[in-house]
Amino acid sequence: MELPSALGHPGWFFTALLLAVILRLQRKGSWTPRKCRVDLTGKTAIVTGANTGIGKSVAMDLARRNARVILACRSRERGQKAVEEVREATGNQKVSLGILDTSSLSSVRAFAQRTLLEEKRLDILINNAGASGLPHSMTADGLENTFVTNHLGPFLLTNLLLDLMKRSAPSRIVFVSSFIHSKGVINPRHLKGEDLQSLHISDYYSSTKLMNLVCANELARRLQGTGVTVTSQNPGVVVTEAMRNYNIVMRFIFHLLGFFFFKSAEEGAASTIFCAVSEEAEGMTGKYVDSDCTVVLPAENARDPDVAKKLWEACESATGLDGREGQ
Ligand SMILES: NC(=O)c1ccc[n+]([C@@H]2O[C@H](COP(=O)([O-])OP(=O)(O)OC[C@H]3O[C@@H](n4cnc5c(N)ncnc54)[C@H](OP(=O)(O)O)[C@@H]3O)[C@@H](O)[C@H]2O)c1
Repeated sequence: MELPSALGHPGWFFTALLLAVILRLQRKGSWTPRKCRVDLTGKTAIVTGANTGIGKSVAMDLARRNARVILACRSRERGQKAVEEVREATGNQKVSLGILDTSSLSSVRAFAQRTLLEEKRLDILINNAGASGLPHSMTADGLENTFVTNHLGPFLLTNLLLDLMKRSAPSRIVFVSSFIHSKGVINPRHLKGEDLQSLHISDYYSSTKLMNLVCANELARRLQGTGVTVTSQNPGVVVTEAMRNYNIVMRFIFHLLGFFFFKSAEEGAASTIFCAVSEEAEGMTGKYVDSDCTVVLPAENARDPDVAKKLWEACESATGLDGREGQ
């Protein structure tokens, strides 16, 4: 068979073909939100980072199921626009905006305080907000920006809302992690911007996604018997604004490949919705769910319970939850 000369060695051709088929197949899993008839009337859900991408698609789905949905966003303008879009698309008027910047512990505390004052119940918490490709910087709390945005902010938020979720049980917490967690490393000193010289900047993101997963499993262990379940999941490769902090070439390649092979935001939201509402995921806790909505083992670096316990304690200390700082 004659192969296009640009592809060079035939091995490349078949590797590219195989990759294309795998990527195309991962666009859709066997479970789809459309097939799930669960109604959420009377339930309240919070989705962080819900003004765009996966978070907005998740919020749309929950609103369609008649939940009261709070879109927790850092920009009032972008958040309000999304609230209006969700209301209009679903006809659900119980959709509202809460201001939350996960990179600021005081913003997280203020959002949690308002929620505890205003909400009688909280059935679903989706920790979706996150960013990749951020340059290294330290926040006013003395924490590394990527680590607080993606991990410590959601960690603190979840802990501050736990009592309300226990009172609303059965309730579900979902952490949007990533397949890239396998490339991450856990070093609690990274949270405070220390020892980072050994970590490439691109691994800050994978390390935070690993921390999401590890702390989700530790939280699940701590919540056994409370009726509050905790899952983490991988949405797959999803065409969203996720590449916004990368250069134009990277963004172009991502969107070009994405057009053919990657998931849309709606498709990428499926595994989060599976964890948050499906009957199949009822009572499921301490599990990692893949982009096709099946439970899989996380990478080996996410499975050590002693590491999880130490990381949990470091996160409590960094966020002031141990009562020693920042409360
Ligand atoms: N796309 C993928 O292929 C992929 C793969 C694996 C995992 N994920 C994860 O999926 C989640 C959603 O990402 P996405 O792909 O939907 O990306 P996206 O389109 O960039 O959306 C990210 C959302 O997070 C919000 N956010 C970022 N920093 C925040 C902060 N400090 N405080 C509050 N909100 C903040 C953004 O708000 P603004 O618009 O105001 O910035 C936006 O609403 C992330 O956790 C990401 O790590 C994505």
